[in-house]
Amino acid sequence: MRKLGEQWIEKAEDGKRYNMNVVHLIDCMEFMKGIPDKYYELAIVDPPYFEQYGKQNYTGSDISTTGIKRQTKAIKFWGIPDDKYFKELYRISKNQIIWGCNYYAKYIPDVGRIVWDKKNDASTFSKAEIASKSFSLRVDMFRYKWNGMLQENMKNKESRIHPTQKPVALYKWLLKNYAKPNDKIFDSHVGSGSIRIACHDMGFDFEGCEIDKDYWEAQEARYKQHISQGDLFSKEEMQKAIYQDTQLSLLDT
Ligand SMILES: C[S@@+](CC[C@H](N)C(=O)[O-])C[C@H]1O[C@@H](n2cnc3c(N)ncnc32)[C@H](O)[C@@H]1O
Repeated sequence: MRKLGEQWIEKAEDGKRYNMNVVHLIDCMEFMKGIPDKYYELAIVDPPYFEQYGKQNYTGSDISTTGIKRQTKAIKFWGIPDDKYFKELYRISKNQIIWGCNYYAKYIPDVGRIVWDKKNDASTFSKAEIASKSFSLRVDMFRYKWNGMLQENMKNKESRIHPTQKPVALYKWLLKNYAKPNDKIFDSHVGSGSIRIACHDMGFDFEGCEIDKDYWEAQEARYKQHISQGDLFSKEEMQKAIYQDTQLSLLDT
């Protein structure tokens, strides 16, 4: 049996079931080696797309009130996934959603697509992002404003702790539309941990990897701060509500 992460608790001493939710500070290639075939029901991944990363500087928003470490550093470049990465990803997961599929077309056989329209028509930021999906050939669309300081939900703005952070709302929408209750979710490139927060709130077991110690620490702090607000709903209540399309305030983030 492989070594389990600290937060990998299937059944705690108090008899309640907690969902597994852990991010390993590790190169995903190293991590995936130890995972059995088709272990995760769904991989939702967002690997780096291009080398330009290494040339930029990023200053995160000032989130000192949250206690989360402010990011002021050159963005490190850890390399771009190759065929070995995609082979491993398809080996360990039953279904895949892969952001940046336009950059990785030669490795991705799936032709279903998800388009995230960032509602950035008037800006120089990118207008949309594309993911492949292994479920169907259909093209689906998610519209959610995400443009520097401007976010769809300005009342409940998300702290930006990572230069390529995606909104929690995007991950919640993906889980709601493509994951089934009790699916185990995997992300090889966690970044800010938005997917981790979405999985926590929606009661999905989640496991991920992040290679960069600074980003790993920042997402740990963000996640801890998020869960310290307390669970308003049990895993079962949350999943029931999600699949019955009931409105829960947590889904608005
Ligand atoms: C495009 S970002 C992910 C952004 C994320 N989706 C979010 O919402 O914040 C890619 C992340 O993968 C990390 N990374 C790069 N190579 C990696 C590797 N081999 N294993 C694990 N993480 C890696 C980078 O440090 C970076 O944080």
